[in-house]
Amino acid sequence: MSIYSASTTAPVNIATLKYWGKRDKVLNLPTNSSISVTLSQEDLRTLTTATTSPDFAKDQLWLNGKEESLASERTQHCLQDLRQLRRELEEKDSSLPTFSQWKLHIASENNFPTAAGLASSAAGFAALIKAIAKLYELPQSESELSKIARKGSGSACRSLFGGYVAWEMGKLEDGSDSKAVEIGSLNHWPEMKAAILVVSADKKDTPSTSGMQLTVKTSDLFQERINNVVPKRFEQMKKSILEKDFPTFAELTMKDSNSFHATCLDSYPPIFYLNDTSKKVIKLCHAINEFYNETVVAYTFDAGPNAVLYYLEQSEDKLFAFLYHLFQNVSGWESKFTKEQLSQFNAKFDEIKDDVSFYLD
Ligand code: ADP
Ligand code: DP6
Ligand code: CO
Repeated sequence: MSIYSASTTAPVNIATLKYWGKRDKVLNLPTNSSISVTLSQEDLRTLTTATTSPDFAKDQLWLNGKEESLASERTQHCLQDLRQLRRELEEKDSSLPTFSQWKLHIASENNFPTAAGLASSAAGFAALIKAIAKLYELPQSESELSKIARKGSGSACRSLFGGYVAWEMGKLEDGSDSKAVEIGSLNHWPEMKAAILVVSADKKDTPSTSGMQLTVKTSDLFQERINNVVPKRFEQMKKSILEKDFPTFAELTMKDSNSFHATCLDSYPPIFYLNDTSKKVIKLCHAINEFYNETVVAYTFDAGPNAVLYYLEQSEDKLFAFLYHLFQNVSGWESKFTKEQLSQFNAKFDEIKDDVSFYLD
């Protein structure tokens, strides 16, 4: 029996300018351009193996060891596009095995909570596309593959690149210009770090796909966001990344997270992704920045209660002094502060310390 297999990993990306809203549901075309930072793969990643054989009877997908339906239109769309590209190779070179006609078995594993607002659909579909493209030996560029990943899950198109990534919404109806492009590689601004505060690993009640559809249909605030807020913010954020201007990047990131969650609340019936702990983390970050009189940290929340904090390596001590003190009770960090400073902070945020655990990127 002939059997061929390829494995790959894909990282999570967390948007700093959020994609929320589709102008075309089938092609997954967004109502606004977005920007993200791809996290390093040491912590949050998807590992996917794609296998094909003439003896497989049907396409099958296992996610975290459990068989998942492959019937969804979006996954089918991805498989069709990849098979078409493979077919073109086979037509040019008749010595190639006819993978395009064989069924696929895909096994995927996320090493972090799935469907909890930590971008599992992004890493998941990016890994699916990359694994099959590797198996099929496709020559397409990351941007070309990003258009296929986009059809699986919008945010997935940005996980084809490391570092700082823009998803350009595009103008064309066929989606051929709606793709991810690199703003800067990881090396452009390597000092940027992320800490992930896991408030809840539970599956969210409202999946991103249906949540954003409700927002587009019912929120008035959403129109203001896509017409008057995001286009300007997109240019400003890109500039702040290119200039490595952390205070501006941080402010835009926090404002955009708040703006996105405001449109969720403005949906009808309202969608709540942030919980009380998330709100305390927001207050904590503002308090830390005020405390140092310097922008040390920026928070952002995807469609879930879990926080992603962006900060620069050189500020790590400043941020962690509080995080460790509040969450893990690690001794030694206290010495960096006066007694008054510590008691001021403890009084304000004592209540949240048992509510969160965190990963570091
Ligand atoms: P998240 O905030 O985690 O991205 P979404 O609601 O956007 O949540 O998407 C979650 C869905 O993405 C899952 O229910 C599953 O269908 C899909 N998904 C997650 N991980 C993978 C994966 N590794 N391979 C294929 N599909 C995945
Ligand atoms: C809040 O990409 O998960 O994380 O395209 O329907 O699969 P679908 O949605 P998805 O939505 C992501 C929303 C977000 C913001 C972002 O990642 O830009
Ligand atoms: Co998602």
